[in-house]
Amino acid sequence: MIRKRRSKIHRWGVFATETIPKNKRIIDYAGEKISNQVSLKREARYIRTGHIWCFKLTNRTAVDANVGGNDARFINHSCQPNCYIEIKDGIIWIRASRTIKKGEELTYHYNTDGEGLLRCRCGPRCQALL
Ligand SMILES: C[S@@+](CC[C@H](N)C(=O)[O-])C[C@H]1O[C@@H](n2cnc3c(N)ncnc32)[C@H](O)[C@@H]1O
Ligand SMILES: [Zn+2]
Repeated sequence: MIRKRRSKIHRWGVFATETIPKNKRIIDYAGEKISNQVSLKREARYIRTGHIWCFKLTNRTAVDANVGGNDARFINHSCQPNCYIEIKDGIIWIRASRTIKKGEELTYHYNTDGEGLLRCRCGPRCQALL
């Protein structure tokens, strides 16, 4: 259903290899479950290489896709995404927010805490900070 390849947004992205119906659970955001404290330390290290890998799961926990992650870690952010996040029973699901056509890049809104460390490149005129 999906494949990792080069993206116009940033390095690697994930693309639909077939039509994906609205609301389909596409992939889970896999990785090591860690505390938010550990996540903050690791993020400080990752951001120096320009990467965000930790996904906030709850107020106390996060998932670090840099350790044991799957292709979900290559899904880029967009301010007009075609996927959304559903957290159920401790699993972070990436679901289609509309019908996604074959060849389209999958994106979701990162909802970062607004540290504004990276300039968004989801479109030519986007001025948002990630
Ligand atoms: C979870 S990774 C996504 C995969 C990434 N493209 C790669 O090749 O490693 C998140 C990182 O991708 C980049 N990224 C994702 N969406 C972006 C966007 N809309 N604008 C700029 N950079 C983005 C940022 O460097 C971010 O830290
Ligand atoms: Zn944007």
